[in-house]
This record gives sequence, C-alpha cells and structure tokens, in this order.
Amino acid sequence: MTIKITGTGSALPEKKVTNFDLQELVETSDEWIRERTGIAERRISTGDTVATLSAKACSKALEMAGKTAEEVDLILVATCSPEMLLPCCACQVQDIIGASNAAAFDLNAACSGFLFALNTAYVYMQAGIYKNALVIGSEVLSKLVDWSDRGTCVLFGDGAGAAFVEASAEDIFRDNGRKVSMECMVQGSDGTKGMVLSCAERSVDNAFIAEKQTISPYIQMNGQEVYKFATRQVPACIHEALDKAGITVEDVDMFVLHQANVRIIESVAKRLKADISKFPMNLDKIGNMSSATIPVLLDELNRGGRIQGGDRIVMSGFGAGLTYGATVIVW
Ligand code: UT7
Repeated sequence: MTIKITGTGSALPEKKVTNFDLQELVETSDEWIRERTGIAERRISTGDTVATLSAKACSKALEMAGKTAEEVDLILVATCSPEMLLPCCACQVQDIIGASNAAAFDLNAACSGFLFALNTAYVYMQAGIYKNALVIGSEVLSKLVDWSDRGTCVLFGDGAGAAFVEASAEDIFRDNGRKVSMECMVQGSDGTKGMVLSCAERSVDNAFIAEKQTISPYIQMNGQEVYKFATRQVPACIHEALDKAGITVEDVDMFVLHQANVRIIESVAKRLKADISKFPMNLDKIGNMSSATIPVLLDELNRGGRIQGGDRIVMSGFGAGLTYGATVIVW
C-alpha cells in the first residue's frame, strides 16, 4: 500500500504589512525585526477567515490532485485561531467546498498542528478506515495578537495551506529506488511548559458565578523560553525520527521546518550538522502562521518544482502546548 500527497494548495490574505508599517504602531524597527527573526513582511486578513482561507487552499489542492470535493473522505483542519467554536472549521470547509461525503473535525496542536493532523490522516488510511483526506493548517492569528505588544505583533501572519493525501493498494517505487511512503513520525508534548506561549478563550462564567474574571484575550509569550525549547527539541525529535526510520541526516533531501524564526532554523541545521541549503524558508515574506507555515511552504516548493518524486523530506515543527513533531516522507 502507498499513502502519498497528490495535491497541495495555499491561500494568503492580500494585505501585506511590512516591518515599516509596524514601526508606525509600536516602538520597533525593520532592522531589529529582520535581524532577530528574518521576517520582512506578513499577510494580514481584512476579512478572510480560517474557514475561507482553508477552503481556498483545499480547492487548489483538490484541483492539483484531480479530485472533486464529493470524493473527499476526511477533512482535518489544524488551527488554534478558529472564528467559531461551533461548528468546527472543518465542517465549515466541508460546507463551502461541498465535500458532502466527508467526516470533518478540527485539531489543535498550535504550530505543530499540521503535522499532527497529517499523522492522524496517515494512521486512518493505514488502518483502512479512509482512502483519502484533506489536511489543512489554517490561521488568522492577527485577531489573537495584541497590536501594542512589540514582543509578539511583529512575528505572526495569517494564511492557510492544504495537502490532499491518498492511499492506493499498490506500492509505488521512484526511479531512485525509494518507496513512496511516510517512513516515520514522532510526536510529543510538554504540558508543564504550556504557559510560556498561551492565549486564553472565555474563562469560566455562568449564572452561578458572582465574581467575573478579566483575562487578556491576546497571545502571551516568553520568547526566549520558546526559543530555547525549539532549538533543543526540534533537532532531538528529528534525530529520533531518523533513528526510527534507520536513516541519517545525509539521507534527507530537504527539511521543511516550521517557519518561526530564521535563527531557530539556522540553529537546527547547525545542531544536525546539515547544510543550510536543505532548509527552504519563506518566513521573510509571510512571517509565522502557526499551523499553516509547513503546508504553505510545502505548496510553494511543490508548485515551484523544487520537490521531485523520490525526495526524502523531513517536516518538523514546534509550538504552543508545548508540542513538537517530526515526520519523514518519501515524495
Ligand atoms: O511558533 C512559535 C512562536 N514563537 C516563537 O517562535 C518565539 C521564539 N522566540 C523568538 O523568536 C525570539 O525570542 C524573539 C524574536 C521573540 C525575541 O528575540 P530575542 O533575541 O530573544 O529578544 P529578547 O526577547 O531577549 O529581547 C531583547 C530586547 C529587549 O529589550 P531590552 O530588555 O534588552 O532593553 C526587548 O524588549 O529587544 C526588545 N524587543 C524589541 N525591540 C524592538 C522585543 N521585541 C522587540 C521589537 N522591536 N519588536
């Protein structure tokens, strides 16, 4: 049996917000943001929602895969910024694209969300429960950001990426002899460090509570703690995944990492002793879009012809929770 990604798609809001635009809002500079993060601009929604961006990305992924929405078995949306608690975003996407035969639900593992959703879809297919899935990472983080907090507002952007994943009965081997597959996945969480990157929803409030609590509805972050976690945990979980798959860093053609900070990606490359040219990046143009960063980059690489059949790709991410993961696939 082969499980493979046969279509990718992405959608970004039209509005570009540059570092110079942010200089008008908070005490910061283009130089500081570029040097500390690698980000120059990001896309910010002026009306797009997590569901509408997801639906646009899905339509493109389905078109590439040559499938209709009615053929979709499962829709998984990874998001930490849905506009609606009920219905879930995946059901909204189902409605917009007309995927009337799909089961649909959301999953929240923050920036690791797309990987966790992709892994979930693979496992469903390996178990023979579904034949295909639309896996989406989508965020409108701009509504969760405190635009007067320079420590966070310069980092994030909005967007969505989708992958259509299909199972087929026969094995598929590429010209380089590699079998198309998911070779390995590693997922992990450390809830004890949850509050280093958090965002509150409504607190407990009902007719029987006299004292109302006031909580900030915005993202709160200890950037340095997240930085330390990422630079330690990402290389560790990539090594764990490669060991499980019985391969080494040299056997990997490309590392598609969560796009949070160019310094984090460079540090991961250094710790893995891997050539930085194997770490494509697009965060300069779109910033950190949490669960959407990996699928948007994957789509950019795929459509740009930078991924060839038989390439071994490691996808890895980290984020609030704290969560982390690494998945090894042969394209
Ligand atoms: O998907 C996961 C999401 N989170 C992350 O990826 C966060 C990971 N962490 C980071 O990327 C980095 O920690 C940041 C980019 C957030 C911050 O970089 P840093 O090198 O760790 O800076 P810092 O927090 O140590 O702050 C250094 C200085 C401080 O000023 P003082 O105390 O030295 O006077 C900050 O107040 O930079 C100041 N600062 C800023 N200055 C200009 C913080 N934000 C800004 C800003 N512009 N936007």
